Amino acid sequence: MARIAYVNGCYKNMRDASVNIEDRGFQFADGVYEVCEIRGGRIVDLPRHLGRLQHSLSELRIALPMALPALSVIMHEVVRRNRVNYGIVYLQITRGVARRDHGFPAANVPPTVVVSARKLNFAKNQDTAAHGIKVITYPENRWPRVDIKSVALLPNVLAKQAAREAGAYEAWYVDADGFVTEGSSSNAWIITHDGVLVTRSTSDAILSGITRAVLIDALAAMQLTLEQRPFTPQEAIQAAEAFVTASSQIVMPVVMIDGHAVADGNPGRITRKLREEFHRFALFS
Ligand code: PDD
Repeated sequence: MARIAYVNGCYKNMRDASVNIEDRGFQFADGVYEVCEIRGGRIVDLPRHLGRLQHSLSELRIALPMALPALSVIMHEVVRRNRVNYGIVYLQITRGVARRDHGFPAANVPPTVVVSARKLNFAKNQDTAAHGIKVITYPENRWPRVDIKSVALLPNVLAKQAAREAGAYEAWYVDADGFVTEGSSSNAWIITHDGVLVTRSTSDAILSGITRAVLIDALAAMQLTLEQRPFTPQEAIQAAEAFVTASSQIVMPVVMIDGHAVADGNPGRITRKLREEFHRFALFS
Protein backbone atom coordinates (compact mmCIF):
# COMPACT_ATOMS: atom_id res chain seq x y z
CA MET A 1 0.00 0.00 0.00
CA ALA A 2 1.42 3.39 -1.01
CA ARG A 3 2.09 5.86 1.78
CA ILE A 4 0.19 9.14 1.62
CA ALA A 5 1.36 12.53 2.87
CA TYR A 6 -0.35 15.90 3.14
CA VAL A 7 1.53 18.76 1.48
CA ASN A 8 0.06 22.27 1.39
CA GLY A 9 -3.56 21.37 0.80
CA CYS A 10 -3.13 18.08 -1.13
CA TYR A 11 -2.93 14.44 -0.13
CA LYS A 12 -0.17 12.92 -2.24
CA ASN A 13 1.49 9.65 -2.85
CA MET A 14 4.73 9.76 -0.84
CA ARG A 15 6.70 9.44 -4.10
CA ASP A 16 5.29 12.77 -5.30
CA ALA A 17 5.13 14.53 -1.94
CA SER A 18 7.75 17.28 -2.05
CA VAL A 19 8.38 20.92 -1.22
CA ASN A 20 10.10 23.66 -3.18
CA ILE A 21 13.92 23.84 -2.97
CA GLU A 22 13.56 27.41 -1.71
CA ASP A 23 11.45 26.32 1.23
CA ARG A 24 12.88 28.01 4.29
CA GLY A 25 12.69 24.76 6.19
CA PHE A 26 15.13 23.27 3.67
CA GLN A 27 17.44 26.28 3.44
CA PHE A 28 17.41 27.66 6.99
CA ALA A 29 15.76 25.00 9.18
CA ASP A 30 13.22 27.80 9.65
CA GLY A 31 10.35 25.69 10.91
CA VAL A 32 8.85 23.63 13.69
CA TYR A 33 7.46 20.14 14.10
CA GLU A 34 5.50 17.76 16.29
CA VAL A 35 5.55 13.97 16.58
CA CYS A 36 2.55 12.18 18.14
CA GLU A 37 2.10 8.54 18.94
CA ILE A 38 -0.69 6.64 17.15
CA ARG A 39 -2.19 3.81 19.12
CA GLY A 40 -5.24 1.78 18.17
CA GLY A 41 -5.50 4.06 15.13
CA ARG A 42 -5.98 7.09 17.37
CA ILE A 43 -3.67 10.03 18.05
CA VAL A 44 -2.32 10.29 21.59
CA ASP A 45 -2.50 13.62 23.43
CA LEU A 46 -3.02 15.71 20.30
CA PRO A 47 -4.38 18.82 22.10
CA ARG A 48 -1.20 19.09 24.18
CA HIS A 49 0.95 18.64 21.07
CA LEU A 50 -1.01 21.37 19.28
CA GLY A 51 -0.59 23.62 22.32
CA ARG A 52 3.18 23.20 22.16
CA LEU A 53 3.07 23.73 18.39
CA GLN A 54 1.40 27.08 18.98
CA HIS A 55 4.13 28.01 21.45
CA SER A 56 6.88 27.07 18.96
CA LEU A 57 5.22 29.00 16.12
CA SER A 58 4.56 32.11 18.13
CA GLU A 59 8.11 32.20 19.55
CA LEU A 60 9.41 32.12 15.95
CA ARG A 61 6.70 34.49 14.69
CA ILE A 62 5.47 31.98 12.09
CA ALA A 63 1.74 32.38 11.46
CA LEU A 64 -0.50 29.47 12.41
CA PRO A 65 -1.43 28.34 8.87
CA MET A 66 -4.98 27.27 9.80
CA ALA A 67 -7.12 26.85 12.89
CA LEU A 68 -6.04 24.00 15.17
CA PRO A 69 -9.21 21.91 14.56
CA ALA A 70 -8.41 21.97 10.82
CA LEU A 71 -4.87 20.77 11.51
CA SER A 72 -6.30 18.05 13.69
CA VAL A 73 -8.62 16.91 10.87
CA ILE A 74 -5.67 16.68 8.46
CA MET A 75 -3.56 14.72 10.93
CA HIS A 76 -6.37 12.23 11.51
CA GLU A 77 -6.95 11.95 7.77
CA VAL A 78 -3.27 11.15 7.14
CA VAL A 79 -3.39 8.49 9.85
CA ARG A 80 -6.55 7.04 8.31
CA ARG A 81 -5.27 7.06 4.72
CA ASN A 82 -2.10 5.28 5.78
CA ARG A 83 -4.05 2.80 7.90
CA VAL A 84 -1.67 3.24 10.81
CA ASN A 85 -2.82 1.37 13.87
CA TYR A 86 0.42 1.79 15.84
CA GLY A 87 3.03 4.35 14.82
CA ILE A 88 3.66 8.07 14.63
CA VAL A 89 2.22 11.07 12.86
CA TYR A 90 4.64 13.87 11.94
CA LEU A 91 3.64 17.49 11.39
CA GLN A 92 6.02 20.14 10.09
CA ILE A 93 5.34 23.82 9.49
CA THR A 94 7.94 26.12 7.97
CA ARG A 95 8.03 29.85 7.19
CA GLY A 96 7.26 29.00 3.56
CA VAL A 97 8.90 29.45 0.17
CA ALA A 98 10.76 32.62 -0.79
CA ARG A 99 13.92 33.70 -2.61
CA ARG A 100 16.82 32.92 -0.30
CA ASP A 101 17.35 35.78 2.15
CA HIS A 102 18.00 35.35 5.87
CA GLY A 103 15.40 37.92 6.98
CA PHE A 104 11.73 36.99 7.08
CA PRO A 105 9.89 36.94 3.72
CA ALA A 106 6.88 39.18 2.99
CA ALA A 107 3.99 38.68 5.38
CA ASN A 108 1.80 37.21 2.61
CA VAL A 109 4.11 34.19 2.07
CA PRO A 110 2.08 31.23 3.36
CA PRO A 111 3.71 28.74 5.74
CA THR A 112 4.42 25.26 4.37
CA VAL A 113 2.43 22.48 6.04
CA VAL A 114 3.43 18.84 5.75
CA VAL A 115 1.93 15.83 7.55
CA SER A 116 3.05 12.22 7.24
CA ALA A 117 2.44 9.05 9.24
CA ARG A 118 4.16 5.74 9.51
CA LYS A 119 3.77 2.43 11.22
CA LEU A 120 6.11 1.35 13.98
CA ASN A 121 6.80 -2.22 15.01
CA PHE A 122 4.96 -2.69 18.32
CA ALA A 123 6.55 -6.06 19.14
CA LYS A 124 10.02 -4.70 18.46
CA ASN A 125 9.47 -1.67 20.69
CA GLN A 126 8.10 -3.88 23.47
CA ASP A 127 11.17 -6.07 23.14
CA THR A 128 13.47 -3.02 23.35
CA ALA A 129 11.61 -1.90 26.47
CA ALA A 130 11.84 -5.38 27.99
CA HIS A 131 15.64 -5.23 27.76
CA GLY A 132 16.12 -1.51 28.33
CA ILE A 133 18.39 0.83 26.41
CA LYS A 134 21.95 2.09 26.77
CA VAL A 135 22.72 5.79 26.81
CA ILE A 136 25.93 7.74 26.48
CA THR A 137 26.58 11.25 27.78
CA TYR A 138 27.41 14.02 25.36
CA PRO A 139 28.36 17.70 25.88
CA GLU A 140 25.36 20.06 25.63
CA ASN A 141 25.95 22.08 22.48
CA ARG A 142 22.47 23.28 21.49
CA TRP A 143 21.15 26.82 21.35
CA PRO A 144 19.39 28.10 24.50
CA ARG A 145 15.90 28.01 22.92
CA VAL A 146 15.34 24.26 23.14
CA ASP A 147 11.81 24.99 24.40
CA ILE A 148 10.99 25.61 20.71
CA LYS A 149 10.45 22.35 18.85
CA SER A 150 12.44 23.56 15.87
CA VAL A 151 13.48 21.38 12.93
CA ALA A 152 17.03 22.71 13.42
CA LEU A 153 18.21 19.39 14.85
CA LEU A 154 21.83 19.13 13.73
CA PRO A 155 23.24 18.92 17.29
CA ASN A 156 20.61 16.25 18.05
CA VAL A 157 21.51 14.34 14.89
CA LEU A 158 25.20 14.32 15.82
CA ALA A 159 24.50 13.30 19.42
CA LYS A 160 22.22 10.45 18.31
CA GLN A 161 24.81 9.26 15.81
CA ALA A 162 27.50 9.32 18.51
CA ALA A 163 25.21 7.13 20.62
CA ARG A 164 24.65 4.69 17.74
CA GLU A 165 28.37 4.47 17.04
CA ALA A 166 28.94 3.69 20.73
CA GLY A 167 26.37 0.88 20.55
CA ALA A 168 23.84 2.93 22.53
CA TYR A 169 20.30 4.09 21.76
CA GLU A 170 20.26 7.61 23.14
CA ALA A 171 22.65 10.41 24.10
CA TRP A 172 22.06 12.44 27.25
CA TYR A 173 23.30 16.01 26.99
CA VAL A 174 25.36 17.20 29.96
CA ASP A 175 25.53 20.95 30.57
CA ALA A 176 28.59 23.02 31.54
CA ASP A 177 27.81 22.48 35.24
CA GLY A 178 27.88 18.69 34.83
CA PHE A 179 24.12 18.09 34.94
CA VAL A 180 22.02 16.09 32.48
CA THR A 181 19.62 18.28 30.50
CA GLU A 182 17.75 15.76 28.31
CA GLY A 183 18.25 13.22 25.55
CA SER A 184 18.79 14.02 21.87
CA SER A 185 15.12 13.13 21.26
CA SER A 186 13.71 12.40 24.72
CA ASN A 187 13.46 13.68 28.29
CA ALA A 188 15.67 12.07 30.95
CA TRP A 189 14.51 10.69 34.30
CA ILE A 190 15.85 8.76 37.29
CA ILE A 191 14.23 7.14 40.31
CA THR A 192 16.09 7.37 43.61
CA HIS A 193 16.44 4.52 46.10
CA ASP A 194 13.67 6.25 48.09
CA GLY A 195 11.31 5.87 45.11
CA VAL A 196 11.37 9.58 44.19
CA LEU A 197 11.12 10.39 40.49
CA VAL A 198 13.54 13.07 39.36
CA THR A 199 13.50 15.01 36.11
CA ARG A 200 14.74 18.43 35.14
CA SER A 201 12.32 21.37 35.21
CA THR A 202 10.91 22.64 31.92
CA SER A 203 12.09 26.13 32.86
CA ASP A 204 15.66 24.82 32.72
CA ALA A 205 17.01 24.21 29.20
CA ILE A 206 14.85 21.28 28.08
CA LEU A 207 11.97 20.71 25.71
CA SER A 208 8.64 20.56 27.51
CA GLY A 209 7.92 16.96 26.58
CA ILE A 210 4.27 15.97 26.23
CA THR A 211 4.99 12.43 27.44
CA ARG A 212 6.78 13.99 30.42
CA ALA A 213 3.75 16.19 31.19
CA VAL A 214 1.27 13.30 30.99
CA LEU A 215 3.53 11.15 33.13
CA ILE A 216 3.65 13.88 35.77
CA ASP A 217 -0.15 13.77 35.91
CA ALA A 218 0.04 9.98 36.21
CA LEU A 219 2.53 10.19 39.08
CA ALA A 220 0.16 12.34 41.09
CA ALA A 221 -2.66 9.85 40.53
CA MET A 222 -0.38 6.93 41.44
CA GLN A 223 0.83 8.76 44.56
CA LEU A 224 4.45 8.75 43.50
CA THR A 225 6.71 11.62 44.51
CA LEU A 226 8.27 13.90 41.92
CA GLU A 227 11.25 16.23 42.23
CA GLN A 228 11.93 18.56 39.33
CA ARG A 229 15.65 19.25 39.58
CA PRO A 230 18.85 18.54 37.65
CA PHE A 231 20.86 15.36 38.28
CA THR A 232 24.38 14.32 37.27
CA PRO A 233 25.31 11.25 35.22
CA GLN A 234 26.95 9.88 38.39
CA GLU A 235 23.70 10.20 40.34
CA ALA A 236 21.90 8.47 37.46
CA ILE A 237 24.36 5.56 37.44
CA GLN A 238 23.87 5.15 41.18
CA ALA A 239 20.08 5.56 41.01
CA ALA A 240 17.59 2.74 41.51
CA GLU A 241 16.12 3.19 38.03
CA ALA A 242 16.46 5.42 34.97
CA PHE A 243 14.35 5.95 31.88
CA VAL A 244 13.54 8.32 29.04
CA THR A 245 10.21 9.64 27.77
CA ALA A 246 9.21 10.60 24.23
CA SER A 247 6.07 10.25 22.13
CA SER A 248 7.69 7.58 19.97
CA GLN A 249 8.90 5.52 22.96
CA ILE A 250 6.57 6.48 25.83
CA VAL A 251 8.48 5.27 28.92
CA MET A 252 11.70 3.50 27.88
CA PRO A 253 13.93 1.99 30.60
CA VAL A 254 17.62 2.94 30.65
CA VAL A 255 19.86 0.13 31.90
CA MET A 256 23.34 1.42 31.11
CA ILE A 257 24.95 4.86 31.14
CA ASP A 258 28.43 5.31 29.62
CA GLY A 259 29.05 1.59 30.06
CA HIS A 260 27.97 1.52 33.75
CA ALA A 261 24.94 -0.59 34.65
CA VAL A 262 22.09 1.19 36.41
CA ALA A 263 21.23 -0.94 39.48
CA ASP A 264 21.31 -4.60 38.37
CA GLY A 265 21.27 -3.67 34.67
CA ASN A 266 17.61 -4.59 34.16
CA PRO A 267 14.58 -2.32 33.62
CA GLY A 268 13.32 -1.11 36.98
CA ARG A 269 10.03 -2.13 38.57
CA ILE A 270 8.51 1.37 38.79
CA THR A 271 9.65 2.21 35.26
CA ARG A 272 7.95 -0.92 33.90
CA LYS A 273 4.77 -0.07 35.78
CA LEU A 274 4.78 3.49 34.43
CA ARG A 275 5.17 2.15 30.89
CA GLU A 276 2.24 -0.22 31.41
CA GLU A 277 -0.01 2.39 32.99
CA PHE A 278 0.87 5.41 30.86
CA HIS A 279 -2.00 5.21 28.39
CA ARG A 280 -4.59 5.21 31.16
CA PHE A 281 -3.66 8.87 31.60
CA ALA A 282 -3.32 9.79 27.94
CA LEU A 283 -6.01 11.43 25.82
CA PHE A 284 -6.96 9.60 22.62
CA SER A 285 -8.59 11.29 19.65
N1 PDD B 1 11.32 14.06 20.12
N2 PDD B 1 13.37 16.32 24.16
C1 PDD B 1 13.73 16.37 22.86
C2 PDD B 1 14.98 17.08 22.48
C3 PDD B 1 12.89 15.77 21.89
O1 PDD B 1 13.22 15.84 20.60
C4 PDD B 1 11.72 15.10 22.30
C5 PDD B 1 10.77 14.45 21.33
C6 PDD B 1 11.41 15.07 23.68
C7 PDD B 1 10.16 14.40 24.20
O2 PDD B 1 9.03 15.14 23.85
P1 PDD B 1 7.59 14.42 23.66
O3 PDD B 1 7.35 13.65 24.89
O4 PDD B 1 6.66 15.56 23.49
O5 PDD B 1 7.70 13.53 22.44
C8 PDD B 1 12.25 15.70 24.57
C9 PDD B 1 10.48 13.56 19.07
C10 PDD B 1 9.75 12.30 19.42
C11 PDD B 1 11.29 13.44 17.80
O6 PDD B 1 12.05 14.38 17.54
O7 PDD B 1 11.14 12.47 17.07
